[in-house]
Amino acid sequence: MKILIVGRGGQLAWELRRTLACFGEVVALDRHTVPVLDLAEPAGVAAAVRSVRPDLIVNAAAYTAVDRAEQEPERAWKANAEGPAVLAAEAARLGIGLIHYSTDYVFPGDGSVPYREDDPVGPRNVYGRSKLAGEAAIAESGAAHVVLRTAWVYGVRGQNFLRTMLRLMAEREVVRVIDDQLGAPTLDRFLEPVW
Ligand SMILES: NC(=O)c1ccc[n+]([C@@H]2O[C@H](COP(=O)([O-])OP(=O)(O)OC[C@H]3O[C@@H](n4cnc5c(N)ncnc54)[C@H](OP(=O)(O)O)[C@@H]3O)[C@@H](O)[C@H]2O)c1
Repeated sequence: MKILIVGRGGQLAWELRRTLACFGEVVALDRHTVPVLDLAEPAGVAAAVRSVRPDLIVNAAAYTAVDRAEQEPERAWKANAEGPAVLAAEAARLGIGLIHYSTDYVFPGDGSVPYREDDPVGPRNVYGRSKLAGEAAIAESGAAHVVLRTAWVYGVRGQNFLRTMLRLMAEREVVRVIDDQLGAPTLDRFLEPVW
């Protein structure tokens, strides 16, 4: 089986590159590879998928700068909504599956109990709206798909809450952090698709 991972150096993509290798040949593409796969360039996305001809697509790339997205809504929309829509259309055309990662930001975030899959969505920011639009495009594409909504992803690499806290604890006597958010820290290894 040939698996196309969209993303290469991101926190989750890096982990998936290692772990999915036991299921077959892994090809990981991003904006810095040949062929280039830039989710913000629809024609290039289709061309990259067609050149790889995968048996499965796993999209671990996204515009993930939650706060910056408020100033760059078009960039977030292209990468999180339009790019995944093209991936899904290509998956449908090839008759293959697409695994895609989404976020708890599709929910309003004002609840006090863990969200369920069928809870009403209601994103409150650009990032959440762009990710929800990506989910919708995938669902409408006709491709076999799995969308995994995750949150607070941590692992041994990349920028994440755990590593930031460990660094601050090593540097400072006192660490001040917000205490008004509830979340479910999720080890990146738990986000691997398992057959
Ligand atoms: N980390 C979390 O806590 C968290 C929580 C909820 C959901 N998620 C979701 O989980 C998935 C993986 O997140 P992550 O934590 O691994 O993110 P990350 O570490 O920020 O990595 C994102 C990757 O996407 C790539 N990328 C950005 N724009 C792109 C574009 N236009 N075309 C192609 N690649 C692009 C980046 O590559 P460059 O080097 O080119 O920038 C980067 O390698 C995403 O769908 C995210 O929404 C993550």
